[in-house]
Amino acid sequence: MGTALATVLAHRGHPTTVWNRTATRAEPLAAAGAAVARSAADAIAASPLTIFSLLDYDAVHEVLATVPTHTVMAGRTLINLTSGGPAEAEHLAELVASRGADYLDGNVGCYPDAIGTAESHVVYTGPKHVFERARPCLTTLGEDLRYLGDNHGAGNALFLAAAAAHTSELLAAFFAAAYGRRHGLAFGVVTSEIARHSQTTHSYLRQIEGQLEAGDYTATAASVRVYVDALEALAEDMAGEGFQNPVFDSLMQVLHNAAAAGHGDAEFAVLYKLFSDQAL
Ligand SMILES: NC(=O)c1ccc[n+]([C@@H]2O[C@H](COP(=O)([O-])OP(=O)(O)OC[C@H]3O[C@@H](n4cnc5c(N)ncnc54)[C@H](OP(=O)(O)O)[C@@H]3O)[C@@H](O)[C@H]2O)c1
Repeated sequence: MGTALATVLAHRGHPTTVWNRTATRAEPLAAAGAAVARSAADAIAASPLTIFSLLDYDAVHEVLATVPTHTVMAGRTLINLTSGGPAEAEHLAELVASRGADYLDGNVGCYPDAIGTAESHVVYTGPKHVFERARPCLTTLGEDLRYLGDNHGAGNALFLAAAAAHTSELLAAFFAAAYGRRHGLAFGVVTSEIARHSQTTHSYLRQIEGQLEAGDYTATAASVRVYVDALEALAEDMAGEGFQNPVFDSLMQVLHNAAAAGHGDAEFAVLYKLFSDQAL
């Protein structure tokens, strides 16, 4: 990810200095027009704004421990695009502030090859004036910026929530494609059908929001039981085929638990309430 970020910045005319723990991974960026620093402190000292993209927050702390505090960091802006938990972002923001620098936390919601393209999506948290000052540089990385406010914990929680949904969607798609394959359906045939259903998923989520806010779980689109009945046909076919899948087993378990707890006739979105209440 760091390579993608630095390459786009350097190619698009932002004077860019890079540093990486393993120097051989940073050196090729010289060809893209970046200066290669010999230490993290040198890299930070070279610019008013520094972007961190490391494995985790522990790595960021490890690197910052090598940087002289007031000579190098004071008056600069540090933007951390490393993924982590809510408390980690809050703790790092406090540390950076104690070193006299401004801080933005960010979460990248795309793969490295999308950086700098219309597919890029990054969510930022931090003081509004710091975000606005950094905006020209951040827009270079992708115009789809989302500023969430100054609550760093909420920013990382939003990323983790989206990552959980994204990972579940991918696992479910691979399960579905593997099942389809048993019936002679090519990967692309199944996944293109999934993409069409995803549009329905997202319009359902938008449509049901008002009903959930009102605490109304009356079935208007489809009840829990409708889903259970439809998926029982899949369970039966899988059993006949001797085809098992842990993703499907968990999904069915959740739906059966909801029905057994008396929510079979409720709108399917009652699952949001049951998850929120830890009632399953
Ligand atoms: N890849 C994606 O699609 C993607 C998407 C969204 C968000 N992200 C987030 O972006 C961040 C970077 O991901 P990545 O895919 O670029 O991972 P990566 O290719 O594994 O790179 C990790 C980087 O962290 C450095 N690093 C690890 N431990 C370190 C330490 N203790 N001290 C100094 N440097 C250290 C590595 O340096 P060395 O080269 O020396 O090992 C390397 O530059 C992660 O937080 C990830 O969750 C990635």
